[in-house]
Amino acid sequence: MKNSINIGFIGAGNMAYAIICGMLDNNFRKQNIKISDINEKLLITRHNELGLDTFTNNTLLAKECQVIILAIKPQTLALVCKQLKKFINTKHTIISIVAGAKITDINNWLGMNISVIRAMPNTPAMIKQSSIGLMANKITSNEQKQLTEKILSSVGTCLWVEQESMLDAITALSGSGPAYFFFMIEAMTKAGIELGLDEEIARKFSIKTALGASMMADKSKYTPSQLRANVTSEKGVTESAIESLKKQNFEQIIANMMRVGFIRAQEIGFELGNND
Ligand SMILES: NC(=O)c1ccc[n+]([C@@H]2O[C@H](COP(=O)([O-])OP(=O)(O)OC[C@H]3O[C@@H](n4cnc5c(N)ncnc54)[C@H](OP(=O)(O)O)[C@@H]3O)[C@@H](O)[C@H]2O)c1
Repeated sequence: MKNSINIGFIGAGNMAYAIICGMLDNNFRKQNIKISDINEKLLITRHNELGLDTFTNNTLLAKECQVIILAIKPQTLALVCKQLKKFINTKHTIISIVAGAKITDINNWLGMNISVIRAMPNTPAMIKQSSIGLMANKITSNEQKQLTEKILSSVGTCLWVEQESMLDAITALSGSGPAYFFFMIEAMTKAGIELGLDEEIARKFSIKTALGASMMADKSKYTPSQLRANVTSEKGVTESAIESLKKQNFEQIIANMMRVGFIRAQEIGFELGNND
């Protein structure tokens, strides 16, 4: 499969926009990227900014594109796939970024024996720092997988999984993960203000600390656990603060939070699957 094939996005919203911007920076040609959406005003904005061909009719886009990226909300997915059914054939590659939607259901709605790849990116795609879980069905070729990885690695790091439940786990970990860290930053900012800091300093230092710690964990030869031990001296400030977190069952709170997210991701998948 060559880089000159047409890639169409159904849904021109936030995630599609982030991925398209990354692709354009990654040397995909704008002539080969097309978008369709029901929101004509948004299409005009996208066309004016990115210079892409736009469609208000998803089936017209499907006729022109060999790769179709489903970037619509979950509740619209079944209907859109059923509308596409007559226009999709075994040469198409369908990539769905729709949270929860299962590969088998997408394949059923599209008419079976279609190559479907499910992807779970997260919002740092907007700054090319996304973590993207991927899974393909059995009939997807290596060539199709490679092209999918080339498209999505334009906005971050891709990893393939073998079981679909792993994508629900990835949804609970990194799909929703940015919100967990934003919440932590919010909480640290509030606590800093309560300790007497100006709001600006509390917020800025909470953000920069999260950034610095993440970058260290990413680049360092040490594990996060070793990095934590390195800054935790006996009877020091960090040790007393971490001990207080441990006493309040911090790790269990995080485990519970992720389990709830995992279960909800699975529920959404079942709800969508019953949408026939
Ligand atoms: N945001 C995240 O962190 C994240 C992470 C991973 C995966 N995802 C998944 O990515 C998908 C897209 O999310 P998003 O944040 O980009 O959503 P979004 O900004 O709401 O974009 C979806 C677009 O699709 C349009 N649309 C609705 N019905 C349509 C139809 N029948 N045909 C064509 N276009 C249609 C919407 O128009 P209207 O607004 O007029 O309805 C909207 O412009 C979702 O399924 C979400 O689960 C999101």
